[in-house]
Amino acid sequence: MHRTHTCGELRLSDLGKSVTLSGWVQKSRDLGGMTFIDVRDRYGVTQLAFNTDDDEQLRIGARELGREFVIKVHGQVIERSSKNPKIPTGDIEIKVTSLDVLNASKLPPFTIEDETDGGEDLRMKFRYLDLRRNPVRENLILRHKMAQEVRKYLDEQHFIEVETPVLIKSTPEGARDFVVPSRMNAGEFYALPQSPQTFKQLLMVSGFDRYFQIVKCFRDEDLRADRQPEFTQIDCEMSFVEQEDILNMFEGLARHLLKTIKGVDLGSVPRMTYADAMRLYGSDKPDIRFGMQFVELNKLTKGVGFPVFEQAELVVGINVQGAAHYTRKQLDALTDYVKRPQVGASGLVYARYNEDGTLKSSVDKFYSEEHLKSWASAFEATPGDLFLIMAGPQDKVRKQLNELRLEVGNQLGLRDKNKFAPLWVLDFPLLEWDEETGRYHAMHHPFTSPKPEDIPLLDSNPGEVRANAYDFVLNGSEIGGGSIRIHDKDLQALMFKHLGFSPEEAQKQFGFLMEAFTFGAPPHGGLAFGFDRMASIFAGLDTIRDVIAFPKNNSGRDVMIDAPSTIDQAQLKELSLVLNQKTPS
Ligand code: AMO
Repeated sequence: MHRTHTCGELRLSDLGKSVTLSGWVQKSRDLGGMTFIDVRDRYGVTQLAFNTDDDEQLRIGARELGREFVIKVHGQVIERSSKNPKIPTGDIEIKVTSLDVLNASKLPPFTIEDETDGGEDLRMKFRYLDLRRNPVRENLILRHKMAQEVRKYLDEQHFIEVETPVLIKSTPEGARDFVVPSRMNAGEFYALPQSPQTFKQLLMVSGFDRYFQIVKCFRDEDLRADRQPEFTQIDCEMSFVEQEDILNMFEGLARHLLKTIKGVDLGSVPRMTYADAMRLYGSDKPDIRFGMQFVELNKLTKGVGFPVFEQAELVVGINVQGAAHYTRKQLDALTDYVKRPQVGASGLVYARYNEDGTLKSSVDKFYSEEHLKSWASAFEATPGDLFLIMAGPQDKVRKQLNELRLEVGNQLGLRDKNKFAPLWVLDFPLLEWDEETGRYHAMHHPFTSPKPEDIPLLDSNPGEVRANAYDFVLNGSEIGGGSIRIHDKDLQALMFKHLGFSPEEAQKQFGFLMEAFTFGAPPHGGLAFGFDRMASIFAGLDTIRDVIAFPKNNSGRDVMIDAPSTIDQAQLKELSLVLNQKTPS
């Protein structure tokens, strides 16, 4: 038998028991007459005591154990003379009577401790060792628990988990596809799903009524902290529903998860239109853990000859409450922050509302104290506040001020990881103008239903058409998105036309779906949560990599298995990826 107990299990109540434990050597201490070894497994750490007086051979064996050796010991549970209150097994130790080395280990390239000395690259190369560390394992256990609760909630709500294929044809979620060559169909390719979108809609046509799947999706796009080329969605679809039904159902899922996993009671989830989110936060995923809503200052800043504001389409600012104490140096640093190419602003104007009631700005040459007072009342400010103001073309300046708002929020500790602030963002535009291709693209995807009252605008003002589409935002991260779908063949055809598809192209790419819609498609809609993003926020992490067992790096590489990699000529040929070369005669 390899073990009678785990390494996290034994307590004072087990004193005197004869036990067998197996695990990895965490560390050893040699104290003259005694050798102590900490043995570790997934469940915890237990101290082993080897006494020379009893068995010289045993102690020599213990002394030779290196870090991460896999061992099996047998012995008796005894009370520790110096207890360790930091670990649950800290009151006891095992007086070892026999030791087996089950496997030796090379010295690991970094320490297997909560705080390791290994850098990111090294830890990723030896990810299986990194996964031995408590914080990394705990993240995956959290993810596992969340997946269990997702299944429990959705099952109780009569959702059916259905697996959809991975070798499919392109799905239009807006990213590039990963493609897989087909050996049996020379010159043809499968695409890996960017999401199971079309399949879940077909399942609605099939009458499944409520579908879900915890499913891998693949997108060939530039990577960031919250993006991986393969990631997991909690993908859901419902029939005979309106937007309100969907919002309630999935707000319920978020509530269930926060309660069962984090012990947090989620009140009702606030809602905001896309237009308001952009106007008040310059972002379609506002972090509402803190205020600092945008205040437009066009009227109060024009007409005094300050060229930057005079020429700007929009002058807009935020009031940072209680931050008038920011030093010149700190303000210069914020100015540098917005001037970085990643933000791209030309500058930053600031004004302090001093504790003594006086107002001072960085543009005092142009604006009198009277002017500044009018700004203060627009900001609803009180003495001690700081105004940060930017100007430029509408869309750009809103995005830039959003970056600044988030940075200031970080600096002031307003983005508390233990606080959960969800938000529904509603009424997204249906279409988005793409400068590169010079045409409209579906902002969500082409199966999203326009708001019926906006359909007449499709011809005259397509950019103004709103969609029955919604995002679930948590702490400034888009963790879910969905829409009510088009279930009418003619409306779907009209959408394809507006997206620049010829009827032939639409038929070729989505003929199967449009045909399905001719066989009694019910009204339906759904949503998909980004499971990795959700788990990383629950775990209080900055990147989704830490909740993925074997993630890719920022260049899309798995540095452990060294993928992607080249394949040999014979395999290329078999897949019809090289032209047959003439063999020399
Ligand atoms: P969408 O494209 O909004 O919708 O994706 C749903 C959610 O998936 C997460 N997500 C990602 N997470 C990690 N890495 C990525 N590369 C990545 N891309 C997206 C986000 C996002 O909110 N089929 C539709 C859903 C629907 O309409 O029902 C879809 O895929 O959290």
